[in-house]
Amino acid sequence: MKKKNDIYLLAIESSCDDTAASIIKNGEILSNIIVKQDDHAAYGGVVPELASRVHQQHISIAVDKAMIEAKVLKKQLNAIAFTRGPGLLGSLLVGVNFAKAMALALDIPIIEVHHMHAHILAHFAEEPKPSFPFICLTVSGGHTQLVKVISPYTMELLGQTIDDAAGEAFDKTGKLLGLPYPAGPQIDKRAKLGKAIYEFPIPKIDKLDFSFSGLKTAILYFVQRSVKKDPNFVKEHINDICASVQNTIVEILLLKLEKAALQENVNQIAIAGGVSANSELRTRFLELCTKNQWTGFVPAFQYCTDNAAMIAVAAHYKYLESDFATQDITPDPRLKF
Ligand code: KG4
Ligand code: ZN
Repeated sequence: MKKKNDIYLLAIESSCDDTAASIIKNGEILSNIIVKQDDHAAYGGVVPELASRVHQQHISIAVDKAMIEAKVLKKQLNAIAFTRGPGLLGSLLVGVNFAKAMALALDIPIIEVHHMHAHILAHFAEEPKPSFPFICLTVSGGHTQLVKVISPYTMELLGQTIDDAAGEAFDKTGKLLGLPYPAGPQIDKRAKLGKAIYEFPIPKIDKLDFSFSGLKTAILYFVQRSVKKDPNFVKEHINDICASVQNTIVEILLLKLEKAALQENVNQIAIAGGVSANSELRTRFLELCTKNQWTGFVPAFQYCTDNAAMIAVAAHYKYLESDFATQDITPDPRLKF
């Protein structure tokens, strides 16, 4: 039963390949559905045109499942939220248009959400929640950002990648090693069986920014050199290569995170985004927190990679401020942070 002041929101996430829908009631997640697209593995990466077509097939299924699992009826919804950007234009269009049409039919407001804000606010989907201000290292397939989170509404970008994202570094390395897309989880798995015996350079980048393109080139040259000497090199040493690459990526990330936290004198520290599912990053992050006497926040696995619960949490805060979008809103693939 819906009480008079209950707030029920439906949230839709369709920025990349997976189609996701979630229901949140008074800030508590009732359902978190992800309909995966397996259609891209054969191409070694997400094919945008294909992704948008498959979103069209999956979106009603995802929304229906989310409503059924939450035991919520359409008439109970107070608003519908969606990812406006950043992301793939065709993919975003499907979610934005679905949300707009459904809200129009139900005569309820719509809420636009920034995908990267939502990755950070995923920390408020369940306990323990960080207190403000906190520093968040957001690492995903398209972004690598250091953010000072002052409130759910005010976030300051302290640094970001000047070229590839951390997730891209995992995925491109995986492609080079012949691993299927997305390669992050595959590298994570193999790294557990290997040793970080190969050294790759840590880039010297100004301030709190990151760079991963030099690492990508270093790995490429290393593999080419090694294969010249021994054609079976990759096959026979893949676990050690994965462990070494992962070790370097984690090192690059944590060096800057530590610098940011010390510079800002903040002791509530979090990681977020798809790469925060990485086991070595999670372990070494928590060790770094212990060393510095910080309180560390690591998201539950279902809130690391893309999901609609994080969109729902961000939308809940916006609903409390009556921060609604209008029906003429359009997706923005390069939405500013
Ligand atoms: O946040 P996300 O789901 O999507 C974007 O917004 O981009 O992040 C996807 C990225 C991919 O690059 C994927 O390889 C990486 O997260 N990823 C991982 C792991 N799980 C996902 N990277 C390293 N280790 C993992 N366990
Ligand atoms: Zn994401």
